[in-house]
Amino acid sequence: MSSDGVSRREFVTVATGAAVGAMVAGQAPAAAQGGKRRYAIVGTGVRAIGMWGRPILRDYGDIVDLVGLCDINPLRVEVAKRQMGATCPTFTNFDDMLAKARPDLLMVTTVDAFHSQYLVRAMERGIDVMTEKPMVIDESQCKAVLEAEKKTGRKIVVTHNYRYAPKHQKIKELLMGGEIGRITSVDFNWFLDTSHGADYFRRWHRLRAKGGSLWVHKASHHFDLVNWWLDAEPTQVSAFGSLANYGKAGPFRHTNCRPCPHKKECSFYWDINRSKSLVELYNNCESADGYQRDGCVFKDDVDIFDTMNAVVKYSTGVNMSYSVNTFMPIEGYYLAFNGTQGRLEIRDYERQAWDPGEETTMHVIKSFGKRMKIDLPTATEGHGGGDQVLRDLIFRKTDAAAHMRLPDSRAGALSCLTGIAARKSCDTGRPVKIDELLKLS
Ligand SMILES: NC(=O)c1ccc[n+]([C@@H]2O[C@H](COP(=O)([O-])OP(=O)(O)OC[C@H]3O[C@@H](n4cnc5c(N)ncnc54)[C@H](O)[C@@H]3O)[C@@H](O)[C@H]2O)c1
Repeated sequence: MSSDGVSRREFVTVATGAAVGAMVAGQAPAAAQGGKRRYAIVGTGVRAIGMWGRPILRDYGDIVDLVGLCDINPLRVEVAKRQMGATCPTFTNFDDMLAKARPDLLMVTTVDAFHSQYLVRAMERGIDVMTEKPMVIDESQCKAVLEAEKKTGRKIVVTHNYRYAPKHQKIKELLMGGEIGRITSVDFNWFLDTSHGADYFRRWHRLRAKGGSLWVHKASHHFDLVNWWLDAEPTQVSAFGSLANYGKAGPFRHTNCRPCPHKKECSFYWDINRSKSLVELYNNCESADGYQRDGCVFKDDVDIFDTMNAVVKYSTGVNMSYSVNTFMPIEGYYLAFNGTQGRLEIRDYERQAWDPGEETTMHVIKSFGKRMKIDLPTATEGHGGGDQVLRDLIFRKTDAAAHMRLPDSRAGALSCLTGIAARKSCDTGRPVKIDELLKLS
């Protein structure tokens, strides 16, 4: 039994794919009235194409119609349409898309800083919304989004896909099952390697104004997992951060990799021309907005941290020590839950320079007892298998366990507010309470 009184054997009905908007909106879906759900996307980069557009057209065409694609880059929206294999109209003006395409569900996959304005504008027009994480990048955006949801009666789904990786569900089930007793603390260290970690510093993510820093853009994934695993809400964060490797800390710099005079000596040199689809989506669209996908990781304008440590306090009295390092020789995480009756230890080997044999190892170590290895399903698809599970839950499945319900705006808010508090704590050198940022009712 979890602390909110939901047993994992208790099931709720989660709307079918066609009905997800209805679940979100509390009204009869188009499919229930005999039609398909009308679905539109704003922000047509790699995530929109790979996670939403292409799979929707491939797997859910019987229940969902993709009716519009919108991006501020007029060239990219056309490339995205082609890469998805879509036939719907494209737009560079969001309001125009809402008026002409008449979606009843909007997916927001823009640069993080712009999620909130599209969520608010769509809800104000009576449209249900789903957004990629992070829902928002600061507390004022968070307030605006929550107020708009309340005022309009629409609902938000935040697509926190990490929850849906089978290994993460296994952790949830073990904790709900009381395997290690009452949880007292969490140790969580996330490692981004010299490939994945560096990529954040090449792109818009390197600017706080675009992604809110990795405290928000990246760590909100992890903070959401912990809130969900613990069935708890964060109350206070103390954090430190530094820029130790990228940006000004680098030995030299240029605008971006393609024309760089330091190609030969730079370990972070990355050749975007090796990917035909990225060349089409970014290089060939640069003339419209000047955005360089292969930006220099050592650019002077990097204003986020690459090395981050925090302690987070939760409503249940649990404390978590957490870190993210972004230029590691390993990718993955160490995670442990300490409890009154033992410890749950997880080592995730997402990508290593050696063959770890297994992608993830998980053990329950009982106090005064034995160490038990937990069997895990192998997942090959995106984000530990979470992406596919999430899409199926949204668009297809009829039933799911209560703890598998789609994350709502409160989950979206709390995961972001933890990161926003961490960022503020780094900036001010003091602990930051969540409710000094925003009081959630
Ligand atoms: N859940 C996950 O695991 C996961 C993985 C990757 C990305 N994401 C999220 O998906 C979103 C998109 O990421 P991406 O990797 O596709 O980035 P991207 O840079 O490839 O795409 C972003 C798109 O948004 C467009 N855009 C920028 N400003 C805009 C504005 N004001 N209005 C409309 N469009 C605008 C850009 O032109 C670009 O086409 C981000 O919020 C990111 O956090 C989530």
